[in-house]
Amino acid sequence: MHLDIVTCLPKLIESPFSDSILKRAQKKGLVTVNIIDLRSYSTDKHKSIDDYAFGGGAGMVMMIEPIDRCLEDLKSQRKYDDIIYMSPDGQKLTQSLANELSLKQNLILLCGHYKGVDERVREHLITREISIGDYVLSGGELAAAVVADTVIRLIPGVLSDETSALSDSFQDDLIAPPVYTRPATYKGWEVPAVLISGHQAKIEAWRHDQSVERTQKRRPDLLSNP
Ligand code: ADE
Repeated sequence: MHLDIVTCLPKLIESPFSDSILKRAQKKGLVTVNIIDLRSYSTDKHKSIDDYAFGGGAGMVMMIEPIDRCLEDLKSQRKYDDIIYMSPDGQKLTQSLANELSLKQNLILLCGHYKGVDERVREHLITREISIGDYVLSGGELAAAVVADTVIRLIPGVLSDETSALSDSFQDDLIAPPVYTRPATYKGWEVPAVLISGHQAKIEAWRHDQSVERTQKRRPDLLSNP
């Protein structure tokens, strides 16, 4: 997978890709992540990328021209499956959307700032919009990092044990079961006996029951998903 992240604050998004799983995925050659500074596509000497809103009102609006120049440049280098604008009013990110995106080859994530982008960007230049939740961030960078993380970890080979992504919460509309490690007893708090019984079938059945029980208790909405 090739991921281009277009932002006017590149520093804000660099660190999640320079550590741990996301760093390893790039080292293994399973994904390339390119962070692009939108200001380098600005046409004036001040490197402006925003301007006042037509009609007045507080807040600056990201201009269409630098964004269009940037996207044209990227599109001349490869064909993109999706050009995604990070926005609080986009399609809500779910595990199933992450699964879908993990099958794509080339993606652009465009991060908004200030009051957002000129509406013509949304109408003409992008193919979808994604929100990470019903709250407003200062910019799209943290949301883009969340999308990138959830998608990249699903690419085969990124996690050392592929089953660990398949057994994540939400993969089958169930919350993951509880996990324990040594010591088996701590301050008198015991690990469930079944987990140290060595009986694999019983362990799997227990984990499934726990998942269903937890989902009923914490996220009953998941069980009524069509
Ligand atoms: N930009 C600002 N808030 C956002 C959100 N909740 N999701 C995606 N992008 C955003």
